[in-house]
Amino acid sequence: MRKKGVLITFEGVEGSGKSTQLPLLSDHLKKLGLEVVVTREPGGTALGKEVRSLLVEKKDWSMEPIAELFLYLSDRAQHIAEILQPALQSGKIILCDRFSDATLAYQGYGRGLPIQEIIKANALVTKGIRPSLTFLLDCPIAMGLWRANQRVLKVLGASPLGVEDRFEKEPTDFHQRVRQGYLELAKGEPQRFCVIDASKSEEEIREEILQEVMRFFGLEDRRWRLLIL
Ligand code: TMP
Repeated sequence: MRKKGVLITFEGVEGSGKSTQLPLLSDHLKKLGLEVVVTREPGGTALGKEVRSLLVEKKDWSMEPIAELFLYLSDRAQHIAEILQPALQSGKIILCDRFSDATLAYQGYGRGLPIQEIIKANALVTKGIRPSLTFLLDCPIAMGLWRANQRVLKVLGASPLGVEDRFEKEPTDFHQRVRQGYLELAKGEPQRFCVIDASKSEEEIREEILQEVMRFFGLEDRRWRLLIL
C-alpha cells in the first residue's frame, strides 16, 4: 500500500501566534507516536534561508512586487523538492509555517498583483501539492503588530523601534488587506480552512487546534487525551 503523508499549514498576519502554536501541536502529535516534520516558508532549506534573508530582513534596497513574488516561489520550489515531497511520500505529517496562501494574501491582496496570475505561477512550483488542513490565526492588525514588537523586545532586550523586518514596517492598510485576503481565501474553502480567533489565550488556541486536528484524523476525544495530557 502506498504511504500518504499530510500537509497541515499555519497562516496569519504578523504576530498572529502561529509560530508559537506550531511546535505545541508538533509535541502533541509526537506523543501520539506520529512522525512529524516541522518546517517553514520562506527558509525551510539551505537555499531558502538565503532567500529568506533577502526577503524578510530589513534592507534598504527596493524590491518590485513581481521580484518579491518570484523569490517566494524559488524558496517554495526548493522546499517542495527537498522537504515536502519526500516527507509526503514517506507518510509523514508536515506542519508548515506558511505556504501558498501566504503568497495570495501578501503578494496578491497585499501588494496588488493579479490573483489569477499568482495562482498560475504558483502551480508551476507546487506540482499539485496542497494542504489538507489550514489553520488561519486571525487577529486585529494592531494586536498582531504589537505582539511582533514584543517578540523583538524579548530577543534584543531593547526597543524594537527601527528593527522591524521588511513586512512589519509596512503601513497598517497593507496588513489590513493581507488580513482581509486571508479571510476571503478561508471563506472560499471552508472545508480546508479552520479560522481561529487569535486574540484568545495561547492555551485556548492550543486546545482548539488540537481538537480540530484530532477530528481531522478521526481520533476519539478520550483516546488521545489519555495519551498526550
Ligand atoms: P514569517 O513572519 O511567518 O516568518 O514570514 C515571513 C514573511 O514573509 C511574512 O511577513 C509573510 C511573508 N510571506 C509573503 O509575503 N509571501 C509568501 O509567500 C510567504 C510564504 C511569506
